[in-house]
Amino acid sequence: MSDAPVRSIDLLVAGASGVATCAPAGADLGRPARRGELSELGFVSGGAVAIDRGRVVDVGPAGDLAARYAPRERLDARGGVVVPGFVDAHTHPVFRFGREDDFERRARGETYAQIAAAGGGILSSVRGVREASDEELELRVRARLDRFLDLGTTVVEAKSGYGLSVRDELRSLRVIARAKGSHDVRVVPTLLAAHALPPEWRERRGEFLEAIEQELLPAVAAEKLAQFHDVFVDQGFFTIEEGRRLLRAGERFGLRPKIHADELGCTRATALAMELGCVSADHLDHVAPEDVERLASSETVAVLLPGVSHFLRVPGDAPARAMVAAGAAVALATDYNPGTCPTQSMFEVMHLAVQRMGLTAAQALVAATRNAAFALGLGGETGVIAPGRRADLVVCDVPDPRDLVYSFGRPPVAFVVCGGMVVRRSDRRADGVPALV
Ligand code: NIG
Ligand code: FE
Repeated sequence: MSDAPVRSIDLLVAGASGVATCAPAGADLGRPARRGELSELGFVSGGAVAIDRGRVVDVGPAGDLAARYAPRERLDARGGVVVPGFVDAHTHPVFRFGREDDFERRARGETYAQIAAAGGGILSSVRGVREASDEELELRVRARLDRFLDLGTTVVEAKSGYGLSVRDELRSLRVIARAKGSHDVRVVPTLLAAHALPPEWRERRGEFLEAIEQELLPAVAAEKLAQFHDVFVDQGFFTIEEGRRLLRAGERFGLRPKIHADELGCTRATALAMELGCVSADHLDHVAPEDVERLASSETVAVLLPGVSHFLRVPGDAPARAMVAAGAAVALATDYNPGTCPTQSMFEVMHLAVQRMGLTAAQALVAATRNAAFALGLGGETGVIAPGRRADLVVCDVPDPRDLVYSFGRPPVAFVVCGGMVVRRSDRRADGVPALV
């Protein structure tokens, strides 16, 4: 028996079937998983997690940890699996209402582009934001952040993008800042001013871009309202040249670039993302084959959003398997927004990534956690369950990590731990029944 002193800690998560750490032994956790490493869950069968002062201090067999640590609180995982908290690296949560009309019109055969051209789409959400009070928007965003946590998402990127004026983009980012300041979920704000050209600027496109460059970017930087800067570079939205100019201007204000790339058509925006050293290129449904190859030697993370093609009822998805085989750093996110993907559930997204894109359940989980953290520049901080990392994890009500993806439609969340605090406890667990599929 070891005579090492027992260390007191804040929390021990034990009683699990195992811990999917997403941190396989020997892996360089300072980098995203690529190729074969995307399939490695670093599963510790019968494992437990020791947590103190918001950080993971140890992961290992439950018996070993029980002997080494004296926890102030114990969480009984009752035969479930423990996984890293999900990192949702692409969302648009600042909007007023859903777009059920667009949904119905698509069901009757209209396309996203036709609906947008007829005044629906993004511009209808812009009208909503402009008409809503700050208080209403904040309440709505806060409720949405609550739901992210309910679903096991412990870090969420939040874009503006339905204001589309200097005033309303700033309002949107301030709403995010206020909601963020009073919420347990970690929020990473992104300015998305070039999301669509609003009607009042239709004849003055150049002036719209100038207003972003000369008024909005300095104001966002002065108030420290965003960490990232995104542009919708796509057919019918903004061009490669406009994207390059805006994102470079943003960098001069300390905003790291991201791009909505190759979603509706192949404009080679993914190549622009690599040229600019973007932290991520997102969507990539129509990415050029040569850009898939180039992603392998690039630090830009490919953030794939299979909920969008599902929701828009279009057949094409990003070539996820080819990307993994080539060596790209592939991540998954919801794209939560009222027009193209109203789900907030990373469980749903992992399911769709398997069913539509052909990823395995293990690849989907690593893409939704470890790799997604790199898409927000948080790869050294969260996304895996490993000593020193922020204690962000989810205890799931299923015995096998594959069941996270297999039993779709019922998010199996039992407990959520965010920064070492137990922020969600499901009352489904009150009956003492061990985890079942
Ligand atoms: O990520 N692609 C651009 N923006 C959103 C759609 C927003 C909307 O339709 O409201 C997206 O799919
Ligand atoms: Fe998006």
